[in-house]
Amino acid sequence: MRYPRELIEEIRMQNDIVDIVSQYVPLKQKGGSYFGLCPFHHEKTPSFSVNSEKQFYYCFGCGAAGNVYSFFMEMEHCDFPEAVQKLAERANIPIPEREMTGQALAMEKLKERLFQMHAAAGRFYYDTLQSPQGEAARAYLEKRQIHANLCRKFGLGYAPDSYHALSDHLQAMGFSVGEMEKGGLVLPNKDGNGYHDRFRGRLMFPIFDVQGRAVGFGGRILGKGEPKYLNSPETVIFSKSRNLYGLNFAKAARKKELILVEGYMDMISVYQAGFRNVVASLGTAFNREHAAVLKKYAQDVILLYDSDEAGTNAALRAIPVLTANGIRVRVTQVPDGKDPDEFIKQNGAVEFSKLLLNAVHYISFQIACIKRKYNLDLVEHRVRFATEAAEALSKMENAIERDVYTAEVSRMTGIEEEAIKKEIQKLQNRQDAAFEKEAEQRRLQNMKSYGLAKGTEQGLLEAQRNVLYLSANHVHIYEVLKEILDLDDFTLSVYREAFSAMGTLWQETGSVFPAELLNFFEEPEQQKQITEIFTVQLPGEEDVDLQKIVNEAVQWMKRARIDRMTAKASSVEEIQKLVDAKKKLDALHITI
Ligand code: UTP
Ligand code: MN
Repeated sequence: MRYPRELIEEIRMQNDIVDIVSQYVPLKQKGGSYFGLCPFHHEKTPSFSVNSEKQFYYCFGCGAAGNVYSFFMEMEHCDFPEAVQKLAERANIPIPEREMTGQALAMEKLKERLFQMHAAAGRFYYDTLQSPQGEAARAYLEKRQIHANLCRKFGLGYAPDSYHALSDHLQAMGFSVGEMEKGGLVLPNKDGNGYHDRFRGRLMFPIFDVQGRAVGFGGRILGKGEPKYLNSPETVIFSKSRNLYGLNFAKAARKKELILVEGYMDMISVYQAGFRNVVASLGTAFNREHAAVLKKYAQDVILLYDSDEAGTNAALRAIPVLTANGIRVRVTQVPDGKDPDEFIKQNGAVEFSKLLLNAVHYISFQIACIKRKYNLDLVEHRVRFATEAAEALSKMENAIERDVYTAEVSRMTGIEEEAIKKEIQKLQNRQDAAFEKEAEQRRLQNMKSYGLAKGTEQGLLEAQRNVLYLSANHVHIYEVLKEILDLDDFTLSVYREAFSAMGTLWQETGSVFPAELLNFFEEPEQQKQITEIFTVQLPGEEDVDLQKIVNEAVQWMKRARIDRMTAKASSVEEIQKLVDAKKKLDALHITI
């Protein structure tokens, strides 16, 4: 059973999109819209717009678009029913218990199977590590000073150096090869016949989700070789860009502050040294989804990436991602290009705790990184350093913090604070202006898109969007087009569904409100496509000949459909019929 449409709409209306978005993204009002930094892609100037009147959002930068539901789903990583529930709660609207649809039920079942399979695989690797086969891996763990109780806690294991050990074991337990492939534990053989185990001869690190269920694995080679770590692919239960290794353990520490490291071994070492509030981002670049997950458990993050060049750069890239999510960031580094794991082994937990105490505000770290490029004994370098530091300072939201660090740069360079502040102000003005210009350009681009060349794929899509846009705005146009258009005249199923949904809305509510139409679509991609219909504005609608636009678009759609059918036609008669149909189109004149 799906929720009744009226209920979904009621909940949507009670959750103003500007309110909801503001909880995640600071917004500034500009004209009828609100603007902020897009939470769905990394940007410096805001191109994310929220339309309060139409109750949808649209990013001129990355094209992300939708209504309050899609926004909430993206930010909270939940599905549509969950979003409905949470937003209903927020608005104090009671909702009935819900049964799952067949498809959702099948997905739940698959996930459940994959969880069970990963638990079984983890157990298998663990047992193998303890068996005679695991001897070399045990010796390796000993060398790396990971204690037996920690191996148990983290479920470390060993994948035998065999192409079928795991799959045979899982098959005997009743898991199908299909399930193993969906879970990423086996790979199809190159010759197309049969499968083989993905992980062979590796030390295995189960990757857990927040609830502590194994959802994937990382496997480290025991000696030298490539890749050093092999990881599970993306599956329905595992996403690299969301998972933070160790979060299931770290959250139990219930600290408001988390230590963020790069690797499996770093995470385990830090944990073993007694600092339990540690998670690893596992090699992948730290992204906004990681940040959104972190934000649920911590307000503060200590970034502790490797101190080599790669680690430093990764830390510099992670900073804006974290701060954009409102997380307070401090940074510390291990001296001499080591990683945290090596440092702890050499210097012990007490020295390590000093490293943490020495963590500095992220801007200090950024400024220090800039400073390394210059020799402050030289006037010219001092100026360049201060200019570059001003750039970093100009991005700080908090004015008080900004002043404090501006003063520091002034002290370091002997340049007057006022001069640096002026530079910062100039940069901020420039950023604002650049944003205005970019957003304006994208808006113009959107408006211009009417009139794209006939015969192009883009043009055909545009024709359909015009038809949909006008059908949503004028009931008389909808009524006329309903008689003339076939659903098959639309090339995308999402457009077909939208056109049908408009019929329902005109009939039942007497209007087609964009955000309400979006309720019919649960997939973010569909939501985006529907929102696009409404972000395209026809050039000065009052002035243009709507009749002409409708006629052109309909002709275009119908001819394209006949072309599609002709391409598929299998007999001469059929083709002849289609040619005739096309001729008849010349006589089609729609009056609206
Ligand atoms: P590192 O190369 O810094 O590894 O990569 P490490 O954690 O210090 O590993 P040890 O100490 O040599 O065992 C950091 C992280 O990047 C990912 C892993 O998650 C690793 O922990 N990585 C690295 C891969 O996924 N694949 C690789 O081939 C290498
Ligand atoms: Mn290491």
